Amino acid sequence: MFSQLSLLPPDALFLLNDEFLASTHPQKINGGIGVYMAPDGSPFVFSALQKAVSQVPLLPKYLSMTGDQEFCALAMETLFGKTLPKNIVLQQSCGGTHACSLFAELIKREIQNPTLLIATPTWQNHFNVFHGFQTITFPHIVEGEVNLQGYLDAIANAPSKSVLLLHGGLTHNPTGKNLSLPDLKTVLDATREKQIFVFVDFAYFGFGEGWKEDQKYLRLYLEELEECAIAISFSKNVALYQHRTGILAVKTKEIQKVSSNLENLVRENISNPPAFGSHALTLIIKKYLSEWKEELESVRKDLEYRREIFANTLPLKYQFLKDDKGMFSLLPLNSEQIHTLKNEWGIFLPQSGRVNIGGISVSQISYFAQAVQHVSKS
Ligand SMILES: Cc1ncc(COP(=O)(O)O)c(C=O)c1O
Repeated sequence: MFSQLSLLPPDALFLLNDEFLASTHPQKINGGIGVYMAPDGSPFVFSALQKAVSQVPLLPKYLSMTGDQEFCALAMETLFGKTLPKNIVLQQSCGGTHACSLFAELIKREIQNPTLLIATPTWQNHFNVFHGFQTITFPHIVEGEVNLQGYLDAIANAPSKSVLLLHGGLTHNPTGKNLSLPDLKTVLDATREKQIFVFVDFAYFGFGEGWKEDQKYLRLYLEELEECAIAISFSKNVALYQHRTGILAVKTKEIQKVSSNLENLVRENISNPPAFGSHALTLIIKKYLSEWKEELESVRKDLEYRREIFANTLPLKYQFLKDDKGMFSLLPLNSEQIHTLKNEWGIFLPQSGRVNIGGISVSQISYFAQAVQHVSKS
């Protein structure tokens, strides 16, 4: 058994992380994996989470297949900021990845050979999650700007019932640039006309322009569209990374069919979602909401601050770093330069040149900038 399996390469990002951990370089920097570190480079835990975890009940029972529905409704309404529109199925998931893959499996049960419209570059794992889809790709960025026309053309030429994948809010992994609110409205109007189903991967709520601004995006998807799906991750914005906490929200007229299929998918995969993260977040929302929101805002502002120093330490062509949002930006470096950064400077970046700004401490920025300039010259 198993002799017929192919040997697959390891996941490049996790491999890079292992290499970083094993490195003995005295000034090593992890610009790879998407974890936000405190400004001094130490692990960051929200104080609201710290307070909540000691009160999480360790109940000896399973959640249901749909997860903790009180948590799902409370968390979604907290992000949404008012009563949710009708016709929304909420399914608790193991983080954002699982919410994305539940959605992908649900579509595959509805459509044979479904089509996915996806602007590239994107989060690399989207291509694993949406395996079995026929993908139509188009560039997300053209000449440094988000390619609104590319989105509209892709929608205009797509077969109906295709799925358009969007990154939630103003953040985008890996480019750091996303559709503005008015451009998003134009895109959503076009999808409605062509009967394209919108799927939003919202992994960084609060990291874009702040709570209230990011909320406007969530409201736009859920209020403007008659049907859509949104994957929410609480990995980064609550730091629940390893506790795998997320929600898949599907707005649909087929509430019962969607919820029974999601239950069935969950049952065959994980049986029921984990409860530690959802209990902790329920406590945060009930007892420490303003503290969490304030801390999240300080994280967002800290990323802006680090972006600003980084851009100011680099030549003019890197000024885009200041305007990009969220944790990631793409550095214009080739693979040889990325190799030199790792081997000579102890700076670990994926081959795409994506940098996690939240992985570079404030005191490491000038060293990082010096290294980037050095390799850019050679
Ligand atoms: C765009 C995007 N979607 C989804 C995820 C997955 O989130 P989670 O860690 O909650 O599975 C990430 C995490 O890196 C991401 O960047």
